[in-house]
Amino acid sequence: MTTAEYALEITNLCKAFGGLAVTKNVSLKVRPGERRLMIGPNGAGKTTLFNQITGDMLPNSGQVKLFGRDITRLRPDQRAHCGLSRTYQIITLFTQDTLEHNVTLGLMGLRRERWQPVRSLASYGDLARESRRILAMVGLEDRASHPVSDIAYGEKRRVELAMALAQKPRLLLLDEPLAGLSSSERTTVKALIAAIPRETAVIMIEHDMDTALDLAETVTLLNYGSVIVDGERDAVIADAKTREVYLGN
Ligand SMILES: Nc1ncnc2c1ncn2[C@@H]1O[C@H](COP(=O)(O)OP(=O)(O)O)[C@@H](O)[C@H]1O
Ligand SMILES: [Mg+2]
Repeated sequence: MTTAEYALEITNLCKAFGGLAVTKNVSLKVRPGERRLMIGPNGAGKTTLFNQITGDMLPNSGQVKLFGRDITRLRPDQRAHCGLSRTYQIITLFTQDTLEHNVTLGLMGLRRERWQPVRSLASYGDLARESRRILAMVGLEDRASHPVSDIAYGEKRRVELAMALAQKPRLLLLDEPLAGLSSSERTTVKALIAAIPRETAVIMIEHDMDTALDLAETVTLLNYGSVIVDGERDAVIADAKTREVYLGN
């Protein structure tokens, strides 16, 4: 593959907080449509790496390319415009307000970042329709007029995922999307993730090695800010270095 054909190409990325190096010379490549699982113990630097991909944090050195374009110094909204999306917990703000209104506000926020702040009345109508479509996508259309305070945690997480997907990203970052869910909610969210179209590459963080393995084609194991093992799922699982991190032997 030439460099322009990768969905994501990270080269020698380094980030430190004060004296603490949290991203240590990380390089990795993700192909278009790939399902990549990023695993590693708590504090390994997984979320910090995501923040540097989205632009929420800037690296001290190194490069991030999205579909061949150097995005290392772009703002988060500029990266979103290049097809990058992540889930943000944006619908938990107005708990007394309806689910539909919250989704509409969330979409307004996302669109304002990506496009023009100038709004016409007709586009609000579009947003309301879009928010209904998103709620239907995750089976919550009948809850649209309920206050968010009535909506279960797992249902909110489903909506956030659907909102990210509504942006039709070419690369979607999911940071522990199954965390805190009941086992039935996990099954539902896993099915949603499994149904993400192939136009979208997915990188999913999980700290529990077994939870999301069945969704992954490739796995990157991060520990103390470094890539320890990286490759096809079965090869990473079988690797002695993976067992060392997870079993301590
Ligand atoms: N904004 C920050 N300022 C200082 N230290 C941070 C900051 N963000 C993360 N860290 C530190 O970086 C390390 C990795 O954190 P994080 O990326 O959240 O790990 P993970 O997501 O793998 O659990 C931790 O030691 C954490 O305390
Ligand atoms: Mg994290």
